[in-house]
Amino acid sequence: MRLCKTIEEIRLLLNTVRNKGKYIGLVPTMGFLHQGHLSLVHEAKRHCDVVVMSIFVNPTQFGPNEDYDAYPRDLQRDTSLAAEAGVDIIFAPPAEEMYPQEFSSYVDVTGVSESLCGGSRPGHFRGVATVVTKLFNIIQPQAAFFGQKDFQQVLVIKRMVADLNMHVKIVDVPIMREIDGLALSSRNIYLSPEERQAALVLYRSLMLAQELIVNGEREIRRIKEAVIKAIGAEPRANIDYVEILSIPNLTPIDQLKGKALLALAVRFGKTRLIDNTVLEA
Ligand code: PAJ
Repeated sequence: MRLCKTIEEIRLLLNTVRNKGKYIGLVPTMGFLHQGHLSLVHEAKRHCDVVVMSIFVNPTQFGPNEDYDAYPRDLQRDTSLAAEAGVDIIFAPPAEEMYPQEFSSYVDVTGVSESLCGGSRPGHFRGVATVVTKLFNIIQPQAAFFGQKDFQQVLVIKRMVADLNMHVKIVDVPIMREIDGLALSSRNIYLSPEERQAALVLYRSLMLAQELIVNGEREIRRIKEAVIKAIGAEPRANIDYVEILSIPNLTPIDQLKGKALLALAVRFGKTRLIDNTVLEA
């Protein structure tokens, strides 16, 4: 496995790879890898000859009062996990390499980026769309792999790729969970043992919604109320949002017809966790 820290270095390396006609896949991450990230690598290895993983804690997608500085980082551990999973090349640039002082161009995807995390984290998706565009331009992958854990992120990236005619196939991969249902996340290490236990309410409430639908409930307001009540019963949980929106445009709906996204963002102490499930009538 090769580790590249500069844009020039990875461009040179990938030029030779491309000249051999290899199909290149990209797995963008912010590091502190877990099995969720590695499931993207496994999927990428099924489709691609060469798998590139980027590891970059992207400052532009964090708000001023968010956890950019505190975000967990461990490149050495990430490197060995990535190598074991079969990553061929890691791209881990320092922040100045991606954002030199004079940097002033951003990619803004409207509409689908405005609800859910776009509402509670202003500027977040502008940062995501910008860094993903930069990674696509630097690496020029034929395919890129994203987790459904960040369902809205996948929709934003797919919209951007279609709108801006980016020549890359976007593949989305199901959410990886712990045995007890908690979705894997680099931020789970912030949780105290009590908060970790309390956070199980997320998966429980998603399953409750699924159960209501199996039992014939189609009224969005009632499903939402049941989920809010279930989360509210956990004293350590503070709801940021609970929303059920249409797929793929994330617009409000009254009745469940076809597919819809149930998305949650909930704080446990200082840690904000997100989770989601697709509801289907
Ligand atoms: P990060 O949070 O590190 O996640 C990297 C990728 O792993 C994302 O596509 C995310 O959806 C996926 N992922 C995380 N947890 C997962 C889980 N439990 N199951 C399946 N996939 C999971 O998302 C980002 O980084 C950044 O916004 C990025 C796209 C790298 C741009 O900076």
